[in-house]
Amino acid sequence: RILILDFGSQYTQLIARRVRELGVYCELYPWDVDEKHIADFAPRGVILSGGPESVIEAGSPRAPELVWKLGVPVLGICYGMQTMAHQFGGKVEAHASKEFGYAEVRARNHSTLLINIDDRVNADGHGLLDVWMSHGDRVTALPEGFKLIASTSDVPIAGMGDEERHYYGLQFHPEVTHTPQGTRIYERFVHEICGCGRAWTPVNIIEDAAERVREQVGDAHVLLGLSGGVDSSVVAALLHRAIGSRLTCVFVDTGLLRLEEGDQVMRVFDKHLGVRVIRVNAEQRFLDALAGVADPEAKRKVIGRLFVEVFDEEASKLSNVRFLAQGTIYPDVIESAGAKTGKAHVIKSHHNVGGLPEHMKLKLVEPLRELFKDEVRAIGLELGLPREMVFRHPFPGPGLGVRILGEVTKTAADTLRRADHIFIEELRRAGWYDQTSQAFAVFLPVKSVGVTGDGRRYEPVIALRAVQTIDFMTARWAHLPYELLDVVSRRICNEISGVSRVVYDVSGKPPATIEWE
Ligand code: XMP
Repeated sequence: RILILDFGSQYTQLIARRVRELGVYCELYPWDVDEKHIADFAPRGVILSGGPESVIEAGSPRAPELVWKLGVPVLGICYGMQTMAHQFGGKVEAHASKEFGYAEVRARNHSTLLINIDDRVNADGHGLLDVWMSHGDRVTALPEGFKLIASTSDVPIAGMGDEERHYYGLQFHPEVTHTPQGTRIYERFVHEICGCGRAWTPVNIIEDAAERVREQVGDAHVLLGLSGGVDSSVVAALLHRAIGSRLTCVFVDTGLLRLEEGDQVMRVFDKHLGVRVIRVNAEQRFLDALAGVADPEAKRKVIGRLFVEVFDEEASKLSNVRFLAQGTIYPDVIESAGAKTGKAHVIKSHHNVGGLPEHMKLKLVEPLRELFKDEVRAIGLELGLPREMVFRHPFPGPGLGVRILGEVTKTAADTLRRADHIFIEELRRAGWYDQTSQAFAVFLPVKSVGVTGDGRRYEPVIALRAVQTIDFMTARWAHLPYELLDVVSRRICNEISGVSRVVYDVSGKPPATIEWE
C-alpha cells in the first residue's frame, strides 16, 4: 500500500487513481495529518503531491518528519519535490516566469526511476520525455546525497534522486495524460521501487470489502435505501455477497422515476440476484404532496421530506435491523472535512439518506468508502450487475420532480417518462449514450401550436438536454448529430399525443445549470 500526502494540488486525486489502476491500494491524507495515522497505515512507499504554495514562504507545508523515518521510498511531485529538496538542505527559488504546459525532459540514464522510460532517445543516448509542467518555484541546488535525474532547457533540475534511500523528486506531473509515459513512471515507482504487487483487483476488492462487512456487522441485519443509481446498486450487490439474506433493501417508487425503472430494479435485484427488496409504491403520496407546488426549491424540500418519511415508515416495520448501509464513495470522503482522520462518518446530504427514527439507533456501513467511481463500476460488473445499470448516467434525487417545470402532475410525469425513454433509446442506438455524461428530457408547461394532418394542436413542449462533463461543475452541451435529433424529435411528436414541439438545449454550464430547475 502506498500513502499519498496531499499538498493541495488539483491533480492529487489523479495520482491516487493512477496508483489504484496499477493494482496497488493507496490512501490520500492531508499533509498535516496526525503522524499516528501514517504510522498505522504502514505504507510501502510515500508520494508527496504538488500544491499551490511556495516552500520559500515561512509556515508553508512540509512533509511530516515521520515520512523520512519509515525507511520506505518517497516520490515527490512538483511541490513534493521542492519540499523534499528544502527539507534535505537543497535550495528552492522563485523564478520570474511561471512554467505551465508542455515541456521536453531529458532523463539521465542512471536513475532507477526513469531508466529506459522515454518517448524518444537523443543523439547522446539520453531518453527524452514529453511532460506536463505547472509550477512557479524550482529547485536550484540539489540536497546532499541527491543526483540530477532529469532536466529541461528551462529547468536545469527537473528531477532528482537519491538511489541509496530511494527518494525521488520530479518537477513535472506524471499523473496527467499529457505526460504519456506517466503511467510507466508510477509503475516503476510502486511496483519495482516500492515492491508492491498487483493485489488491488475487482475480485480482491470484493472479497476484502465483504470480509470487512462481515466483521463489522456480525450476525446483525442491515438496511439499505436502494435508488437504482450506481452506488446504491453496487452496495446492494456487495452486501448481498457478504451477508446474503441479512440485507433488506427498501426501494421507494416516488412516481418521479424513469420509465419502468422500478420494474428494472426489482428484476435485477429481487429476481435475478435474489436480494430482498421491499418496493414501496408511493406515487400518489408524492403527487398529493406536490399538488400546487411550483417553486424548484420548495419541490425539492417536499420530495426530500416525504422520501424520508416513507423510508422511515418501512424501516420501522423491520425488527432486528442494526445497521444502515450507504453508498458513500472515496471522493465524498476526501472532500469532507472528515478526511483528516479518515474516520469521520459524514452522511451525504442527498435526500435518499433518511433521518431515521431515533429509537432504531442504526450504525453506518459504508463498503465503498475507499473506492473511486471507476472502481465502484468495476466491482459492480464483477458482482453481476448489468452493464447498462453500472454505466447509467446520474439521476437527481428529486427525479422528474425537477425536470417537470412548475407544478408536477401525473400526466406531465407520464409524458416526460415516455419522451425521455425515446431520447435515451435513440442515444444508445446511435452510440452516443456513452459519449455524453448526462442526457434527459425536460417537460415545459408552456403550450405551443402544432399541426398534424388537418388538425391543430396546442400542447406542451419537450426540451432535450445532453451534456459532456468530467465533474458536473462545468459542462459543455453535447454536439449531437442533427440526424439523431431529427429521429428523436419525430418519434416524440408522433408517438406521444400530448407533445407538439421538441427543442434542443444549447446552453453550457455556466451560465446554465445542467438541470432546468
Ligand atoms: P446542476 O443542475 O446543478 O446539476 O448543474 C449538477 C448535477 O447535480 C445533479 N442534481 C441533483 N442531484 N439532488 C441530487 O441528488 C438534487 O436536488 C440535484 N440537483 C441537481 C444534476 O442531475 C447534475 O448531475
